Amino acid sequence: MTNDAWESVDRYFSDLLIPADPVLAAVLRANQEAGLPAMDVAPNQGKLLMLLARISGARRVLEIGTLGAYSTIWLARGIPADGRIVTLEADPSYAAVARANLDRAGVAGRVDLRVAPALDTLPELLAQDAGPFDLVFIDADKPNNPHYLEWALRLTRPGSLVIGDNVVRDGHVVDPDSPDDRVRGVRTFLEMTGAHPRLDATALQTVGAKGWDGFSLAVVR
Ligand code: DHB
Ligand code: MG
Repeated sequence: MTNDAWESVDRYFSDLLIPADPVLAAVLRANQEAGLPAMDVAPNQGKLLMLLARISGARRVLEIGTLGAYSTIWLARGIPADGRIVTLEADPSYAAVARANLDRAGVAGRVDLRVAPALDTLPELLAQDAGPFDLVFIDADKPNNPHYLEWALRLTRPGSLVIGDNVVRDGHVVDPDSPDDRVRGVRTFLEMTGAHPRLDATALQTVGAKGWDGFSLAVVR
């Protein structure tokens, strides 16, 4: 199998199952024009996030790592009109692009975008009693994934979902001696997830438009 074949299958699935969406296309264009790194989730993963939010009946969502808000918009579409997403972004220039995109998508009223390092905002959320969140999507700087998991556990309830993006690291996730902080962060995150008495989890590899990657999915007991 080649990347080309994976990509054409991704395109085939997406063309059939995910209607062309001028708003999301404009969002991706805006992100590109603003020079954001092309780390948005793929359309079929975005739709999976929307479906998981809907299937789980999520009303309150926490996203760690907004980037240009592409995944935020998918999540917003999966919650009821009176639901709420808190999304955390450390980079003010990314957040400015995200804000415009949330307006463009008509979901800004459902989204509370907080611009600061997530490890500063997460304790504030706990102090403000902002939880429990029904779904947490962890998609920020990977070295901090173990901390984000700990905060996710403090801010959720039994039955909440915790999803971790980008857990494959080009296959390096299996290397116990990796010097890469991102690999180490993801490995510790996965080890904590597997060993935690309050989490029941799996992880899946993905191929396609975004190359070889994957995500973890856990439910809080
Ligand atoms: C990386 C991070 C992401 O959130 C993503 O979607 C893709 C890649 C990275 O750290 O390389
Ligand atoms: Mg990601």
